[in-house]
Amino acid sequence: MTTSRVSTPDRREDTRYAVRPLDGITCVRIGYGKVAAIHEQFLRGAGVATLAVLDDEAERRAAAVGDGYRVVGSLNEASELSPTFWDVCASTASHARLIDGIARVNPAARILIEKPVCDFADIQRLRMTLARNSLQIVVNENYFSSEVTERVRRIAFEELGLRPKRLLVEMTKHRLRDALSGRFMDHALGAFGYEGPHLVAIARQFIPSLSEDDVVGASLEDTAVIDEGGPQKFQGQGGGTIRLVSREGIAVELYTSLLGVPRHLVPPYTDETVRLLRSGDDVRYRMVSVQGVDRTGRELSVAGFYEPIVGLLRGEGAVAILSDGRPMRFVGPFADDTMRLHLIRAVRHLCDGAPNPCNVETAIECVNLLNRARRLAGAVLLEYEETG
Ligand SMILES: NC(=O)c1ccc[n+]([C@@H]2O[C@H](COP(=O)([O-])OP(=O)(O)OC[C@H]3O[C@@H](n4cnc5c(N)ncnc54)[C@H](O)[C@@H]3O)[C@@H](O)[C@H]2O)c1
Repeated sequence: MTTSRVSTPDRREDTRYAVRPLDGITCVRIGYGKVAAIHEQFLRGAGVATLAVLDDEAERRAAAVGDGYRVVGSLNEASELSPTFWDVCASTASHARLIDGIARVNPAARILIEKPVCDFADIQRLRMTLARNSLQIVVNENYFSSEVTERVRRIAFEELGLRPKRLLVEMTKHRLRDALSGRFMDHALGAFGYEGPHLVAIARQFIPSLSEDDVVGASLEDTAVIDEGGPQKFQGQGGGTIRLVSREGIAVELYTSLLGVPRHLVPPYTDETVRLLRSGDDVRYRMVSVQGVDRTGRELSVAGFYEPIVGLLRGEGAVAILSDGRPMRFVGPFADDTMRLHLIRAVRHLCDGAPNPCNVETAIECVNLLNRARRLAGAVLLEYEETG
């Protein structure tokens, strides 16, 4: 999308980002990897001070020391610093164990934890920890805090009175480089493990009742790469589709491609977007589209585009209204930094009692839905299988 094809920019001050200074609020960060750096940037910007960092790996601890952080060696030591909340940015496989460990040193701890809340296999353990303690938890499923989603809903349902028949959510990015580094390799959920929680989060804001019982079909695609070790096949890690039919009879498709292959390309996205996606540049195609009949009986669709959008700035979203697949009206660009907004809402919940933007129950339902799809897809996710 190029800016020239979008209507007058709507960059009104968004008061949701204007946080009251969160002075005196502190956290301890567990896990000092990629996402931790984003948390630090946004939370520091909101006035939250990081007291210390805890990481399993010596290399990551050394990096934290190099960046000027105090590094602690245990949850006990971290608890002695009395953080306002714990910021869990560690790998998903450790989430349930870490929540349990935090509860042991502080049964009333306030916790911000990355998505997905835990692996499917750990849900019972997590539930037991929750039952025995009075933890307050927000899950950082940032697509529960998107202005794009909000505007698509408002335009579709309030403005146009759309009766939805179909909902599509897509997240496409070329992640081969990440896959080769082992970063995007999920042996529990396959390709559903990365953008899957985001896809479900978006869909549930249109259809809140959407659950694992609504899944009617699912498939996963493999991917193969050639690196120094020769050709390798990554089963179920290339992409996937989940089909659902909601109680209301709305057909839902959730699609993700980790190979940069878009499926639901909506104008004004062009061949150039496809070329950029295939080239593996840092380009994504992330969209939602709700299709149905408006008050006047017209078949319409309202599509929302999440950042980063080709031709727009980072943190900008846009919406298009289409008839017969042709755009009739554009709205945007407008500010939509879901990560920053969700983190701010999370801290407000933990410290000020504002509504929880994603509680544990909701996050568990997302994991359950993805697990049902993963089982239906039937792929056997072997260790990196040699193909040559
Ligand atoms: N919200 C989003 O959009 C988003 C984006 C990327 C990742 N994530 C989530 O963030 C989490 C971390 O992802 P990442 O990409 O930063 O991974 P990463 O591998 O870069 O970092 C994870 C860090 O956690 C550390 N760690 C693992 N187990 C630990 C334990 N028991 N105690 C202390 N440290 C431990 C590792 O040593 C590593 O440094 C995952 O749950 C992932 O799903 C969310």
